[in-house]
Amino acid sequence: MASTEGLTTEQRDFWAENGYLIIPNALSPETVDELLRESHQLLEDFSLDGHPMTKFTTGDDASSSAHVGDNYFLTSHDQIRFFFETAAFSSSGVLLKPKTRAINKIGHGLHLLSPAFRSATLTRGNLAIARDLGFSDPRVLQSMVICKQPEIGGAVPSHQDSTFLYTNPPSAVGFWYALEDCTESNGCLSFAPGSHRRCEVKKRFVRMEGGGTGFEDVQSAGEWSEEDETFVLGPVERGSLVLIHGNVLHKSERNTGMGSRFIYTFHVIEGENKYDEKNWLQPTAEGFSRLNDVE
Ligand code: FE2
Repeated sequence: MASTEGLTTEQRDFWAENGYLIIPNALSPETVDELLRESHQLLEDFSLDGHPMTKFTTGDDASSSAHVGDNYFLTSHDQIRFFFETAAFSSSGVLLKPKTRAINKIGHGLHLLSPAFRSATLTRGNLAIARDLGFSDPRVLQSMVICKQPEIGGAVPSHQDSTFLYTNPPSAVGFWYALEDCTESNGCLSFAPGSHRRCEVKKRFVRMEGGGTGFEDVQSAGEWSEEDETFVLGPVERGSLVLIHGNVLHKSERNTGMGSRFIYTFHVIEGENKYDEKNWLQPTAEGFSRLNDVE
């Protein structure tokens, strides 16, 4: 489990300056093993029968919007569902890999339905960190395992997480736990340090009025360009926690190696801020999971 001590002054300063923070050894080796075991079990157990073969990408081209816009994705917030790597299929749509090597991500309700992931999420350590980041009523609203499969693990283009989980004012923070070593060759994260201070959220991923999802511009976001930002690599060892500010630009490259790059991530928003009704993910009647309840 993560320590219950929260962040040091030095860590808080780094976060404020850079918009991300790497905390080595945040999970014990036993917890990492348990979460990996659970991930592999889920991949073994799910059935391809009746699966819509939905692919996942955060890119904004028309074809990817069509894929993520389907019902299987939109109703996944309180389920454990399986989204494919685009490169797992041939151009004619034939699955080229065994299912356990073809899934891009598992989500988005692991923190609700999987006891192993639930107990790694709703912890006093995560609450202490959330409070040190300024949250009053931190709510966990989605969780996922991202597999970054060998050879086919896709790149994730530069983005801001608040694009997908918008509150007013923006408050999303990603808690990103490495379950395997993340290196330059298997597609570790990279960040544009300080971009959370320069770059307001300028794009929103929303439910469209006619159904499905799409991107919408935020008019008030001001002028800034990704081209002006410099990205630095963030390789981490398994068990590390990476905190990601909802406004910081980050991305990852393809996994070109022969090993996977499993990570577990969940997102927290401030429960006191207005949650936007256009967001793709909407709360169930019980609302989002209160981290304050672990106290
Ligand atoms: Fe992200």
